[in-house]
Amino acid sequence: FQSGLLAGKKVVITAGPTREAIDPVRYISNHSSGKMGYALAEAAAEAGATTILISGPTQLATPDRVQRLDVTSAQEMYDATMASLEGCDLFIASAAVADYRPAQLAEQKIKKTGQDTMTIELVKNPDIVTAVAASQPKPYTVGFAAETQDVVSYARGKLERKKLDLVIANDVSQAGIGFNSDRNAVTLVWPTDEETLAENSKTQLARDLIARISAKIT
Ligand code: PMT
Repeated sequence: FQSGLLAGKKVVITAGPTREAIDPVRYISNHSSGKMGYALAEAAAEAGATTILISGPTQLATPDRVQRLDVTSAQEMYDATMASLEGCDLFIASAAVADYRPAQLAEQKIKKTGQDTMTIELVKNPDIVTAVAASQPKPYTVGFAAETQDVVSYARGKLERKKLDLVIANDVSQAGIGFNSDRNAVTLVWPTDEETLAENSKTQLARDLIARISAKIT
């Protein structure tokens, strides 16, 4: 792994899940552990980049030479990302961001009622990677696609709709890889071609991904 690949570059990475509060004791979230994003931050720092890791709640240690900003909700992740963009050369969205949050945050714990059903209205969260791809000057913008079927065609849809430079697609239906695992397997979907990286540790995949991406931005 070449240590100077990203020397002089600034890299911003989102990682982990977000939590969308329902009331003071409950939230909506997902199974992201943050491992993929933390491995990417470690690889970017090893490659010599000034690296900012914007992290939802995780159990992970901050990699060496990485500046970590902790956030909880999608809105906080959006705000921290937008505030970190100045001089950013590369943005990688590896976080599993909640698409929706409860329309109302109850101030007190919601009590059980006599009813058998309960409805929580949800409203859309801002799309962080789309906002970064629309910013000026635009950093090289990389999104992930976590899909359970037709992985590459959905990823290509995201690449075009969100105006991204690269989508890293992972099939989260496969046991033992993807969410909350130490291993992953991905397909890189660029505007004109594709490349599959076979199952490997997230640490090694992150190095391979950073090597390929840095070739596009230097
Ligand atoms: O954290 P790990 O346990 O290591 O697992 C890694 C992972 C499977 C979570 C990761 O590799 C991954 O695929 N992350 C993206 C998961 C996801 O939520 O994908 P999506 O298809 O919902 O979103 C597509 C892209 O838009 C992603 O880059 C996401 O970060 C971004 N997004 C989505 C919604 C939103 N409001 N803002 C965003 O920036």
